[in-house]
Amino acid sequence: MRVQFFLSVIVLVCGSEAKGALRGMFPDKHPPMLQNGVDPGQPVFLTPYVEKGQFDQAQKASKVGPIPGVTQDSYAGFFTVNKTTNSNMYFWFFPAQTSPSNGSAPVLLWLQGGPGGSSLFGLFVENGPYLINKDIKFGTGFSFTDKDEGYATNEEDSYAGKYVPAISYKIHMENQNPFKKLNINLQGLAIGDGLCDPETMMPQYADFMFQIGMLDETQRDYFQKYAMQATTFFIISYLKAKAATYITLAGYKTTTTSCAQRCIFDMLLNGDLYPYKPYFYNVTNTNNYYNFLLTEPPADFDYYATALADPMIRRAIHVGNLTYHSGEQVEKHIINDIMDTVKPWVAVMMYTGQLDIIVAIPLTEAFLQTVQWSGLDRYKSADRMIWRINDSDKEVAGYVRQVDNFYQVIVRGGGHILPYDQPARSFDMITRFISNTGF
Ligand SMILES: *[C@@H]1O[C@H](CO)[C@@H](O)[C@H](O)[C@H]1NC(C)=O
Ligand SMILES: *[C@@H]1O[C@H](CO)[C@@H](O)[C@H](O)[C@H]1NC(C)=O
Ligand SMILES: *[C@@H]1O[C@H](CO)[C@@H](O)[C@H](O)[C@H]1NC(C)=O
Ligand SMILES: *[C@@H]1O[C@H](CO)[C@@H](O)[C@H](O)[C@H]1NC(C)=O
Ligand SMILES: *[C@@H]1O[C@H](CO)[C@@H](O)[C@H](O)[C@H]1NC(C)=O
Repeated sequence: MRVQFFLSVIVLVCGSEAKGALRGMFPDKHPPMLQNGVDPGQPVFLTPYVEKGQFDQAQKASKVGPIPGVTQDSYAGFFTVNKTTNSNMYFWFFPAQTSPSNGSAPVLLWLQGGPGGSSLFGLFVENGPYLINKDIKFGTGFSFTDKDEGYATNEEDSYAGKYVPAISYKIHMENQNPFKKLNINLQGLAIGDGLCDPETMMPQYADFMFQIGMLDETQRDYFQKYAMQATTFFIISYLKAKAATYITLAGYKTTTTSCAQRCIFDMLLNGDLYPYKPYFYNVTNTNNYYNFLLTEPPADFDYYATALADPMIRRAIHVGNLTYHSGEQVEKHIINDIMDTVKPWVAVMMYTGQLDIIVAIPLTEAFLQTVQWSGLDRYKSADRMIWRINDSDKEVAGYVRQVDNFYQVIVRGGGHILPYDQPARSFDMITRFISNTGF
């Protein structure tokens, strides 16, 4: 028997209002709270209840609502994770809509990539159960939320390629503690388009973009030259050697090795912290490295930002008048870690949207060839399976390689924001993964 335990937590991060690496899809501007005389209420902090063992009160205090058009029960609030620094983590939990009476419904934790990207993006743009329309009304939009499991998938994006393994490892270690108060039955983790290992991944970009026609030969070579420089900086700093103290790129000077890694990446492709347009934009005039078929991010990526400015919504979801932080400050503290190597301790499913550039398939493939684990040889020679949602479908949903409990999935027709592009395929994928039914 397999009882899945994933947590369902949403992280609302602290920081300022700008964008950060791999966060290009998050709304540029979170409008300040609308001043319409409606009281936004107070943020709800649950840690004091938990410390007193008052779990019923905590549950009551965190119950979300009312929101017009929303009937499903959910719970939201803050946990204080560090009193000294007054660090608080926001979550929004959706119980299973229909739960077996034996309480065996899996719990899923969704952590947005970014770094510092709020998982509210995942909630409102990728997974549901809510969708916000053009008139900033809540609705249920993703077909899969109507299904009986009622869960909001648990994939992880990009930077989560690093912290998802870290959290899983932490849970694993805590479970070994003989004095533990709680055993978390962690069954699996999924990393979507995850930037796990820049050292193996960085060198793959230029060729990929050339092969899909986004760069010509000269542009490919330019891109490759600097990508290799970023990789070298990574290796140098990894070896803790003294590196060249600055580089100059397109008029953008950096003064430290660690900055050099991020700045090159940012200058080439990402353009979030770089004050000018990145090279990728200059040579393609496209602004969407999450899906190479699209020129701009879709307008509805931004709708939820407007909803979060409404004091009525803020009251309902227990955030009060706190500023919505989109995460740059978080990123500034950890961005250089992007260039650290993280190999997952428990790799269960890694999936990639076929149309993603920022963590494109060849990046993940190159990384997976270097992960040292007992199944590596079998992984390298595993037959690729063709996955269809229904066996009788003409449409192919994707391709899967499996070794024991490890799955690598490529999802056709979708990019980095996979559940947005391919909701049915994303849902089928995560359902197969959770229910252990295979592909
Ligand atoms: C809280 O933050 C302080 C300051 O960064 C740190 O020294 C301390 O270890 C943190 N406490 C916990 C429980 O993480
Ligand atoms: C709980 O019920 C479900 C559906 O009825 C069943 O598939 C599952 O095996 C049960 N789990 C436990 C722990 O009894
Ligand atoms: C892209 O073009 C802009 C405007 O011409 C320029 O300022 C910027 O430096 C260019 N970016 C790169 C990476 O060359
Ligand atoms: C938020 O509300 C508190 C009182 O509840 C007030 O002291 C504070 O100034 C408000 N902050 C903002 C940013 O409006
Ligand atoms: C798969 O088959 C089921 C039942 O035959 C049907 O309800 C469902 O719509 C199909 N899904 C797709 C994606 O075609």
